[in-house]
Amino acid sequence: MPVLVVLPFQGALPFFVNATCGTTVLGAFDPVAKIAEVCARHRVWLHVDAAWGGSALLSQRHRHLLHGIERADSVAWNPHKMLMTGLQCSAFLLQDSSGLLQRCHCAKATYLFQTDKFYDMAYDKGDQTIQCGRKVDCFKLWLMWKANGTKGLEQRVDRAFSFTRYLADEIRKREGFQLVIEPEFINLCFWYVPPSLRGQEGCTDYSLRLGKVAPVIKEQMMKKGSMMVGYQPHGDRVNFFRQVVTNPAVTREDLNFFLDEIERLGRDL
Ligand SMILES: Cc1ncc(COP(=O)(O)O)c(C=O)c1O
Repeated sequence: MPVLVVLPFQGALPFFVNATCGTTVLGAFDPVAKIAEVCARHRVWLHVDAAWGGSALLSQRHRHLLHGIERADSVAWNPHKMLMTGLQCSAFLLQDSSGLLQRCHCAKATYLFQTDKFYDMAYDKGDQTIQCGRKVDCFKLWLMWKANGTKGLEQRVDRAFSFTRYLADEIRKREGFQLVIEPEFINLCFWYVPPSLRGQEGCTDYSLRLGKVAPVIKEQMMKKGSMMVGYQPHGDRVNFFRQVVTNPAVTREDLNFFLDEIERLGRDL
C-alpha cells in the first residue's frame, strides 16, 4: 500500500505515487481507484506498476482487480510476463498528449530526427525515448494479438487464474502443503512441510528448518531435471514456493505432477 507523505521533509514534497497492480511475490493489488482520489486531491502524479498484473485487464472476469487504473497518469505493463509475448515487451502508457516524452527525452539531434516531415510526427517514437536504436516491442504484441484475438488472450488470462485456483484447492486437500496467503492473482505461494516437521510448529527451530525445505527441494528437482519453481522469503515468512502458471499448454496432469513431485522430493527431508 503506497504511503502519501503530506508533510514536507527537509523542504521536499512528494511529486508522485507509485501504486502496484500485481506485486512480484504475493500478487497483491493496490486499490487504485481510492489512491487516484487522493492523488487528484493533492494534484500528485499517479503511476501504476502493472508490469505483472496489467494483463488481467484482458479478462472480463478479473479486470475489476485494476479498477481505477484508467485514472492513472502513467502505467507500466509487461505483456512478456503473463501473456508470454516474446521477451521483451514492455509498454509505458501515458495519459499525456502534450508531447511530454518529447520534451523530456528529445536530444534535438538534427542528424537523426527531422521535424519538417509531411506526416504527423507523433508517430515518430525515436526522439521520445531515451534510447536510439531498439527492438520494436509493440510489434510482437500486435502480432500475438492478431494471432490469438482478444478472446484468445482473455482465455489465456482466465486459464492462468483457473490453474491457480485449482492448485490452491489441491493444496488445501493435501497433507503437508500450506498456503502462505489466499491467492488474489495467479501467484500461488505455499510451503511444503515434510512429515518430519509436521506438528512441530511450536518448536523454536521450526521456522529455521522450514526455511531450508524449499531450497533443498529445488536443488533436487533441478539435478533430476524434472521441473523448476521459484522460492523466496518474504518479510518474516521463511522460504516458500511461488508457483505461477502462464503457459496455456499446461494441463491438469502437469499441475498434479507438480504437487506430486514436490511431495516425492520432500517427504524424506
Ligand atoms: C511488479 C513488477 N514490476 C516491475 C517488474 C520489472 O519487470 P521487467 O524488468 O521485466 O520490466 C517486475 C518483475 O518481476 C515486477 O514483478
